[in-house]
Amino acid sequence: MAPSVLLLLGLLSSTGSLPPPRTSFLLNSADRPLVLFSLPDVHNTTTLLLSDDGSTLYVGARDAILSLDVSQSDIIHLKKKVEWSPSESEINECQLKGKNAEVDCPNFVRVLQPINSTHLYACGSYAYTPHDAYIDAESFSMVQQDEAKGRCPFSPFQRNTAITVDGELFTATTTDLRGTKPQISRHFSKDGRPDVSQDSSLSLLHEPVFVSSSLDSSDRKLYFFFSEVGKEFSFVDELRIARVAQVCKDDVGGRSTLQKKWTSFAKAPLLCQSHRQLPFNVLQDVFTLQPPEGTDASETLFYAAFTSQWSSGPESAVCVFKLQDVRAAFTESYRTFNLLTHQWSPQLGKHSYLGKCGLDNASDSELAEVKRSFLTSNSVKPVGVGPLAVSSGQQYSRVAAMRTQAADGKQYTVLFLLTESGFLHKVVLLNRGAHIIEEIQVFTQPQLVKNIILSPSKGPHPSKAAFEDRIRHSRCD
Ligand SMILES: *[C@@H]1O[C@H](CO)[C@@H](O)[C@H](O)[C@H]1NC(C)=O
Ligand SMILES: *[C@@H]1O[C@H](CO)[C@@H](O)[C@H](O)[C@H]1NC(C)=O
Ligand SMILES: *[C@@H]1O[C@H](CO)[C@@H](O)[C@H](O)[C@H]1NC(C)=O
Repeated sequence: MAPSVLLLLGLLSSTGSLPPPRTSFLLNSADRPLVLFSLPDVHNTTTLLLSDDGSTLYVGARDAILSLDVSQSDIIHLKKKVEWSPSESEINECQLKGKNAEVDCPNFVRVLQPINSTHLYACGSYAYTPHDAYIDAESFSMVQQDEAKGRCPFSPFQRNTAITVDGELFTATTTDLRGTKPQISRHFSKDGRPDVSQDSSLSLLHEPVFVSSSLDSSDRKLYFFFSEVGKEFSFVDELRIARVAQVCKDDVGGRSTLQKKWTSFAKAPLLCQSHRQLPFNVLQDVFTLQPPEGTDASETLFYAAFTSQWSSGPESAVCVFKLQDVRAAFTESYRTFNLLTHQWSPQLGKHSYLGKCGLDNASDSELAEVKRSFLTSNSVKPVGVGPLAVSSGQQYSRVAAMRTQAADGKQYTVLFLLTESGFLHKVVLLNRGAHIIEEIQVFTQPQLVKNIILSPSKGPHPSKAAFEDRIRHSRCD
């Protein structure tokens, strides 16, 4: 239990807006030592992966993948480094596509996931020709690399998400050079079942920016979080809307209709809105907090950082959604897309199979309905109906959450929020509201940190977080 949380217990307030931090530490403050790690020749660290035992941090960077020893709380060691860069001729080809050799053509590692008990899987933008690679985790050497379409973006500036489950890889990314073809798909499918992707006869997604993904293992579903243009609002063209999409883990596609395409794809709006205000409609990040042991999976929480398309200054909100409510949205009613009018209308009649798993043998007419009815009627509303916290003055870009026990035996949830100005806010959630208990400067220059990972085994140092560096927001989305 960190003393800083204890300090706070007497401080309660009923305000909905975040009060200023209790303590603020500038960079390299002796009162708040922060373990930072950098190497002169390592840049653009974009993906982080913590080993199961919490002792090794794998880092995907520009032209390299690192393995760091993070088993000690006061120092980080470099264990191994794998160089992974395009050749000179591949960089020349990248330039022929009109790309800048230094900015666009290096290999930016965008997926780093365990693929089986012995190997890691990586996917990188690789001079605008995505490649993937396997790394033997023990020797930390690359055993194989290949061109790989559709598993990570061509552009290092587009966001994507990926998750492995039992050796199968699920990705949400754009899949073309121009970065206009989004795709959610399953790769390396097991037991002879086919790889599955999105039906392309209709646009299921509109300029999505994928931020995160999560597995619901008890329902055998995967969720993808993103913002996209909300086409159901025909009156405004460019209204963005936050979403969660589902697919079933074991979906194999239909028999004649929707062959090798998801029969379980559906999407629902995520609502994060204060009373009588415009919604926070742009998702920045989502963190999945597993329920405490012994609690039902439906209690899984998704902490989400949002910004708003209408803000004139820095402003953001954090909303928390419960898995139970996400599941409910996908089992309730759907809207149907009319191919002639290009309008959404409420789905007529009862179609109990919509949003369900196991439609492999469904009839063509049922699958025809599935193809047109992939948007839920209801939005997923946050726990407590509105945001947990609203910040005017901060643009939160990443969020992580953990439960921690205070000396009084009570459980508290602590959020770690990264601001665009290079600060980390540690926020404790109390019954009466959210409080920033610490503000720690992690970078001198304002910059968007691209990743945060918590190492729960670190006991009294819950804020031992690893950071990813720098990308200007304007280039990011
Ligand atoms: C893990 O995957 C790699 C790459 O495909 C393969 O070479 C290796 O044999 C696999 N290991 C196990 C234990 O399945
Ligand atoms: C890589 O880092 C440089 C320097 O911080 C930054 O200007 C650039 O935008 C980064 N590129 C990507 C793809 O993040
Ligand atoms: C679909 O039909 C095949 C062959 O008839 C059967 O093996 C399979 O179990 C069925 N799938 C489902 C989900 O019912």
